[in-house]
Amino acid sequence: MTLAVCPGSFDPITLGHVDVVRRATTMFDDVVLAVAHNSSKRYLFDLDQRLDLARDAVEGAGLRVRVEPVQGLLADFCRDAGASAIVKGLRGGADFDAEQPMALMNRALSGVETVFVIGDGALAHVASSLVKDVARHQGSVAGMVTPAVAAALAYAFPAGPTAGDPS
Ligand code: PNS
Repeated sequence: MTLAVCPGSFDPITLGHVDVVRRATTMFDDVVLAVAHNSSKRYLFDLDQRLDLARDAVEGAGLRVRVEPVQGLLADFCRDAGASAIVKGLRGGADFDAEQPMALMNRALSGVETVFVIGDGALAHVASSLVKDVARHQGSVAGMVTPAVAAALAYAFPAGPTAGDPS
């Protein structure tokens, strides 16, 4: 059995993430979507919300993928899970520059290789940070996230003069 771990903050999960997870399911027997939690990082959505939204997204896409939290080092999670590889998506060179040191570190810590896949070009503009910024300014995130994520973003960033901005 081969097992891929697809890690990320998923704050929130996007259809770009779902596309990468779907590609991982075509290459590995089993896939775990690993939702990282870093207590020093400020998330828009708490861990339970990010897990729920990720579960809804993979189930909605018909993917048989487990969604689990990662509370410590990803390398330890991968070793404990018996992961064959970490799978991440690359939209372009900037992603590669950010991912290379993490891939090297994770391999040094655990021996687990990182496999990069090029996601759907039609989703190359979709990033959690940009989606949050668009939603914060009342823009449409349709086609970038699931309906549940769009609803959660609309709740987090209500329209009007009293609009809250928790991030
Ligand atoms: O979606 P992101 O924020 O780009 O994902 C980054 C993530 C969560 C994969 C990375 O921060 C991570 O692996 N965090 C878990 C803690 C850890 O192992 N840190 C060392 C990474 S080399």
